[in-house]
Order: sequence, then structure tokens, then C-alpha cells
Amino acid sequence: MNKDKKAVKKLKKYNQDHIIKLLNKLEGKEKENLLKQIEEINLNEIIRLYDTLVEEKIAKKSKIEAIEYLDKAKLSKKQISRFTSLGDDVIKKGEYAVVTMAGGQGTRLGHKGPKGTFKLDVYGKGKYLFEILAENLKEANMIYNKVIPWYIMTSNENYLETLNFLEKNNYFGYPKDHTKLFIQGKIPLIDTKGKLLINKDMKIKEVSDGNGSVFSSLKNAGILKQMKEKNIKWIFIGGVDNVILKMVDPLLLGIAIDKHLQIASKTVTKANPHENVGVFCKINGHPKVIEYSELEDKLAKEKDENGQLKYGNAHIMCNLFSIKAIEKISEEHLKYHKTIKKNSYIDENGNEVIPTNPNSYKFESFIFDSFEFFDNIAILNTKREDEFAPIKNKEGSDSPKTAKELYEKYWNSKK
Ligand code: UTP
Repeated sequence: MNKDKKAVKKLKKYNQDHIIKLLNKLEGKEKENLLKQIEEINLNEIIRLYDTLVEEKIAKKSKIEAIEYLDKAKLSKKQISRFTSLGDDVIKKGEYAVVTMAGGQGTRLGHKGPKGTFKLDVYGKGKYLFEILAENLKEANMIYNKVIPWYIMTSNENYLETLNFLEKNNYFGYPKDHTKLFIQGKIPLIDTKGKLLINKDMKIKEVSDGNGSVFSSLKNAGILKQMKEKNIKWIFIGGVDNVILKMVDPLLLGIAIDKHLQIASKTVTKANPHENVGVFCKINGHPKVIEYSELEDKLAKEKDENGQLKYGNAHIMCNLFSIKAIEKISEEHLKYHKTIKKNSYIDENGNEVIPTNPNSYKFESFIFDSFEFFDNIAILNTKREDEFAPIKNKEGSDSPKTAKELYEKYWNSKK
């Protein structure tokens, strides 16, 4: 069977007649590209995810418990100094690296371009999110007299734009030969009727497949191997959109080392029982982050013997992994979650449609689902105003406005 016929057969089987129409209209290189894509995409898997993935609920038979954590405010000076010095040693030896996950679509913020290229209006002149991260790392390099390798995960879609932006801005003064971009996995979007979306370039629209992709993407891009050659033992993995994120914290690292744990995470206390954040718990003896939507109201409000929320440690995308942990996770399969998002597409008449409401499903794996592969995790509960100022939404909570206030308040307090 020739390529065209094979593609048409596959598309028919999964009710994607609109893509057949598109295929018939295209010629030359454009047609070749689309044929190649149809051949490569695992439509069976996408349709299966679309059909079967429903909002996950915690199974009734699961045993859910509160998770142990350390409260930074309650650590003694002696403890802080012991943990910090354990962490310092690793960083001084050059065994520490940082990964920034910048492959998200940033649909809620709606900034045109990769989220890291968003300029936050701080201190008059403003700062780009990548600039804020570079500054944070440069400061750590000064303290440790070392250059910490910085890896930036982009999506297939935003790789070139991110690269050009960083090149144009000279990596905001971060040593270029210690900075490396890599591309994460991708997956097609599907609309609410089970149809694939068409992109502006007349291909099937594929987007990044969630931040849980970081482990396999580090491996597939050859970075894990590179890290091992450089004798890197610990890797911090954070997002691009928390403007006071501390990527190099010897305290968190020292706690993981002291407790002989391979993974660690910083948390902040949930602002109220109904704050829209995932929280840590243990399920069937393994660490897990439960999404806000999955946590029963009774559990969300439950208090411990000290009057604190029992499930009050919010996951803030501030995670640390040993290289062994990353190797282990990269061999596992992280499950996909289904989220509905706003995504533009090309309609049957060739016009671009920019939806005003969420119109399509995105399948994403989440970094925190990797925690379940371990028996334990070191959790350090910290002060929100010192650690967490995210930019998620255009307006309201977790927006540029709130992040600006928190950023300036944080740095003013350091003066
Ligand atoms: P979010 O899940 O908050 O997504 O990402 P987002 O892309 O920033 O925004 P929305 O949901 O579309 O509005 C948390 C972090 O994970 C990264 C993001 O770039 C951000 O740093 N991420 C997310 C990836 O690197 N890849 C992905 O596929 C998804």
C-alpha cells in the first residue's frame, strides 16, 4: 500500500476525516510532512486516552495518611548549620545542577511567546523571567565559586524562540558553555469531539506532554549521560514561573543527604483549606501529591494534633532529585492526566480560530507523580513569602500583579 493510502486508512479508522481533507489539499513538502506525522503519531493511544481518561479520584481502598515533614521555622540553629554544611559540600564539589522546565504552553497567562520571555514589571525597568532565574543562579555561583550547569527544558514548539531570545540577551550573563537547552516530548491535542487539531503550519497540532516528561527527556537528549560524566549527583528541577524560586538551597539538599533520601521537596503551608494547590500525603505508604480537585472536603479541612491542616503542605514545584532517582524514574512510565485548555487551530476553510473557551484536551504527565516510585521524600516546609511567587493567571491570584508585589517585598526585605 502506498503512503497516501496507508495514511487515509489510519485516519478513517479513528474518524479523522478532516485530516484526510487537508491531506488532499496539500502538495509537495507540506504533504510529505503531514504524511510523516500521520505515520509517526500513535493515534490508537491518543484516542484511548481521550476515551478512557476521566478525572482521577483517589480509590476508596487507598490508605491515605499525612506525610512527615520538617518545618524550617522549628529547626534549631545547630540543625540548620549541620544540614547546610552537608549541602554546601556537594555544591562546592561541582556535583549540583539545575533544570528549569520551560516547555509549558502558559495558556492561562496568555503571553505571546515562551513564558520565560515574559517581562515582569518590577523596579521600573522590569525583568524577564529567564533574567530573574539567571540572576538567582549567578548569585549562587558567586557564593560557591563554581559555575552550576543550567539545563533548560523547552517544548518542540517554543525551542527556537527560547534559544533566539536567550542568545539575543546573551543568556543574561550566565556562562553560555554551562547552559544547555533541550526539547521535551510532545503529544497531539484533541478537541472535545475527539478530533485532532490542525496547526498553522498545516500539520497536526502537537504540544508538550507535561512537566513529567522531564525525566525521559533528560535521558533521551543525552543530558543524563552528560551529567554522569560531569559527576553530578544532585539535580534541582523547578519551573520557569516562580519569581522568588530558590534553585540552589544547601539546606534542602543537606536534609535529603542526612536522611539518606533520593528526593526532596520544599513546600509552603496551604493558605486555606480550599486553596487551589496540590498537597502532599502518603498513599499506600508512598509519597504523593493529591490535586486539589481530588481531595475530599473532609480531608481538606482535617487538622492534626497541633491544630495544623493535616494535608497542608502545598507542592510548589521546587524539587530535588539524586541522579540515581532521575535514572530510575526515566525508566518508568508516568501516567497521563487529561486537562482541558484553550488552543487555537485552523478550521476547514483554512481560517485560524482562537477560542474564547477551553476547546481541547491536553494529555500531561506531572513531575510529582514520580514521587510514588519512592518510599519516602524529604519535605521542608518554608515561609511562603520567601519561596513562592508564581505567575499563572493573567489577572487575580498568582498573576503578574501578585508576583510583582511579592518579588519587590522579598528583595526590599533583603536590603
Ligand atoms: P503549568 O502546569 O503551570 O503550565 O507548568 P503552564 O504552561 O505554565 O501554564 P498553563 O497551565 O498552560 O496556563 C508548571 C511548570 O512546568 C513547565 C512550565 O513551563 C512551568 O515552568 N511545563 C509544563 C513544562 O516544562 N512542560 C510541560 O509540558 C508543561
